[in-house]
Amino acid sequence: MSTDVYEGPATIEKLAALCRRRGIVFPASDIYGGVGSTFDYGHYGVLLKNNVKQRWLDAMLRERDGIVLLDSAIIQHPRTWEASGHVAGFSDPLVDCRTCKKRYRADDLEHARCERKPSKLPGQGPECDLTDAREFNLMFKTTIGPVAEAGTEVFLRPETAQGIFLNFRNYMNVMRRRPPFGIAQIGKSFRNEITPGNFLFRLREFEQMEMEYFVPPDGAQQAFEEWVEARRDWYLRYGIEPSRLRVRPHGADELSHYSTQTSDVEYLFPIGWLELEGIAHRGDFDLRQHMEHSGVDLRVFDPDTETHYLPHVVEPAAGVDRATLAFLVDSYDEEEVAGRQRTLLRLHPMLAPVTAAVLPLVNKDGMPEIAERLYAELRAALPVEYDDSGSVGRRYRRQDEIGTPWTITVDGQTVEDETVTVRDRDSLTQDRVPLGGVRELLEDRLRSSTGFSPAR
Ligand code: GAP
Repeated sequence: MSTDVYEGPATIEKLAALCRRRGIVFPASDIYGGVGSTFDYGHYGVLLKNNVKQRWLDAMLRERDGIVLLDSAIIQHPRTWEASGHVAGFSDPLVDCRTCKKRYRADDLEHARCERKPSKLPGQGPECDLTDAREFNLMFKTTIGPVAEAGTEVFLRPETAQGIFLNFRNYMNVMRRRPPFGIAQIGKSFRNEITPGNFLFRLREFEQMEMEYFVPPDGAQQAFEEWVEARRDWYLRYGIEPSRLRVRPHGADELSHYSTQTSDVEYLFPIGWLELEGIAHRGDFDLRQHMEHSGVDLRVFDPDTETHYLPHVVEPAAGVDRATLAFLVDSYDEEEVAGRQRTLLRLHPMLAPVTAAVLPLVNKDGMPEIAERLYAELRAALPVEYDDSGSVGRRYRRQDEIGTPWTITVDGQTVEDETVTVRDRDSLTQDRVPLGGVRELLEDRLRSSTGFSPAR
């Protein structure tokens, strides 16, 4: 049963604080006072985000056939964005308040707050003085060339998708692909959002995972439906609570200029139901536009009918940062154990930044030597960490807060009988296992957490 109110223990503020405290995500340019809504991923954040991307790549490349990779340039020919419709249409309506100099999205005023007291919607306070709405293009501009005035004006890409369309002919000619096939790409995109915010949810610089699936026109509807299912299942597989996930088809008034049909995979964040990923049926809009603007024939020859046609495109487009935020929110938990508060991330083992931590109970009596040997053996196969600073209780708490599924403790008994304890983050059970079997045990548990053997 899905509801409309998030009832879990997470808040965006608690998560941001945990991420900062544990080296997952830091506010960017902190020592200069920060730049609004810009973040740097710390060590554990990089590992977590890499795992999110790797699981997406597993789904695209290892669990099915027919998808190839691309890493295209951030700066493309400026005509790209004329053809794609971004120069003319990629804008939000904004209004300024002449009194407090704040800027709001005109289509989202009901969620905004005027800074003056008593708190009211913008435009409702006695001193509010809003301008008329005007369109504000979200693309960041820059210039190529040493002299700004004489340089060529270009844009930082607002989506990775267009680089894929520009390469479509290369994949036909060089890679010998014929529809149906897909081109997948992960990379940074940039949007000068008017109202960024909510931690990693809406950023000006973010990463996307996009795949353009090229199909003969009569196969597009079925491909669209299959991709909506597949993408919803991916979030569930990596642990998202089913009652907090839904698929919402767009109404006709919401569709982007390129789309004939779109469904969003939405997650119930503490701030409400919001888009994680959009799956769009783009028809032949993009290839047709680029064919017309460039003059290059992008049609495919069908030997059966001996005709040329433009493939249709189904596009699952996800945000790496947004997915990471959803996995963080969903896995965040607080509980009381033996009278003490415990905060933890119940991250799926294939997403957790660290799979296991090796802890010598104390730094003497032969324990560090055994623990270091075990750590060296595991490190070659899995993302593991050695942790010998502070009391063992503190070390457990640290590992719980970064979501490490298993901690392996080398204690006095290990020195005698070569067994260690394996503590489970979620159940808190401690199993005593032979030292030589730890690696196999962890690998088995990882395999059984997904039902297949994904790339680490
Ligand atoms: N090529 C289609 C496209 O870009 P989109 O819905 O604008 O579609 C796809 O973006 C995904 O990228 C979104 O579902 C979201 O996860 C992510 N995304 C978009 N804008 C973002 C932003 N400002 N900050 C973080 N993620 C964003």
